[in-house]
Amino acid sequence: MMLNNYNYFHACNCLMKQNNNSETVQNFSRLSAGNTMFLKKGKNMLETERLILREIKQTDIEDFYEIFSTDEVGRFINKMSHADVERYFEKKKQKPKNPFSFAVVLKENNKMIGTCGVKLNTETNVGTLSYVFNPKFWNKGFCTEACKAVIKFCFEFGKMDEIQADCFDDNLSSIHILQDKLHMHNVSGKQRWEMNNYTKKITAFKFFAITKQEFFENY
Ligand SMILES: CC(C)(COP(=O)(O)OP(=O)(O)OC[C@H]1O[C@@H](n2cnc3c(N)ncnc32)[C@H](O)[C@@H]1OP(=O)(O)O)[C@@H](O)C(=O)NCCC(=O)NCCS
Repeated sequence: MMLNNYNYFHACNCLMKQNNNSETVQNFSRLSAGNTMFLKKGKNMLETERLILREIKQTDIEDFYEIFSTDEVGRFINKMSHADVERYFEKKKQKPKNPFSFAVVLKENNKMIGTCGVKLNTETNVGTLSYVFNPKFWNKGFCTEACKAVIKFCFEFGKMDEIQADCFDDNLSSIHILQDKLHMHNVSGKQRWEMNNYTKKITAFKFFAITKQEFFENY
């Protein structure tokens, strides 16, 4: 993958440099040990140890379907048929791009294995984190790795004061990620129940949040 004229931000120390030469992602990763961020006219790209996070492209449609059509994912969020996915991609074309929403791609083979993003409420400066990964790649730390990079990016460059997340109260891996790995605090006093279309049970949600200050105290 060639990157031309990208500004890149070294996420560890927020050093910003201008690169006017053609560089490969590999060249960039050699330049910095931590997460690296490439930004160009709203086309943001983040790099972590094993992942590239970039905008979702039309060519991701089959990988996207592979993720959202599985029963494992359908256990916690609504499953999508191929037609649903096609409609989603069509609608996406008409919406303004969300610079905090990423396709998560494995560096080793360029496969898109998940999505991870934050939706910003510009009135409150609060973002909402969401993520979905291909079950073939679960429990390898990919979601945690992607979320850390996205949250850091949002707090450093997205003018966000707080990032929130929620999930069904029986989504144990998601709760473990939010609470124990991303160090979000539990938000009490908020209540929501929704029909889980997989279990057909009305299920409660759990709410989490992390402020900018809390994030930088932990990382
Ligand atoms: C939630 C999800 C994104 C996690 O992706 P992932 O790449 O497997 O996440 P990670 O590997 O970074 O972390 C998973 C952690 O959960 C743990 N875990 C897995 N199953 C668990 C369970 N039943 N109970 C508790 N922890 C569990 C794993 O051991 C791992 O923790 P560890 O690294 O400390 O061992 C993935 O399961 C998914 O796509 N789920 C469906 C969509 C979803 O629920 N999205 C969020 C709700 S909005």
